[in-house]
Amino acid sequence: MREESVARILGELRENFESHGGMMKETMGRSMKGMFAAPPLPMLEELKEKNVETLEHSLRVSRFAIGIGREMGLNETTMTQLGWGGLLHDVGKLSVAQQILTKAERLDAEEFGEMKRHTIMGYELLNSGEYPNEIREIALFHHERFDGNGYLYQLKGAEIPLLARICAVADAYDAMTSARCYKEERTEQDALAELKRCSGGQFDPEVVSAFLKSLQ
Ligand SMILES: [Fe+2]
Repeated sequence: MREESVARILGELRENFESHGGMMKETMGRSMKGMFAAPPLPMLEELKEKNVETLEHSLRVSRFAIGIGREMGLNETTMTQLGWGGLLHDVGKLSVAQQILTKAERLDAEEFGEMKRHTIMGYELLNSGEYPNEIREIALFHHERFDGNGYLYQLKGAEIPLLARICAVADAYDAMTSARCYKEERTEQDALAELKRCSGGQFDPEVVSAFLKSLQ
């Protein structure tokens, strides 16, 4: 990997950590040394080159997830797994065809089938490095729903690992509040109302309540 690109993405990560009161920096900076043989920056750089919106979305998901984790009193190791897991949750999109990833119209059934596979592709991609299982499970299970209506495995409630339940809430909130090529964004107020409405259905109610507290 080019030295210059490593420096660039590191700079951007740092900027993001700092613009949020140092929260991400504080949580994830520690793990740069301890958690990985080498930080997974090449993968994030590839993601940025393929679809910069996905990388920006991942940064925000990580930040929201860290806020939730703090409210839930997770320990330090779990917090670093959560922060990095949020950042890497959609890394499987590297394996999704570009035209599907950036399609302006709604995906047809076949395309949606391919899109869904980003969960398992992420899990497999993260197998090639030395990633803790907790991080890999975030990639694999972040589209499961608390009520069992998610994908790929229709897991329910506590069958879904906690960190994946946390990232699901952070992911949904960010998806609702961001404009994407196929939809306009909702207001923060609307998105929060939707999270509350789906608390105990699509989302783990304890996670939703921690998220609401983290925003205060
Ligand atoms: Fe995803």
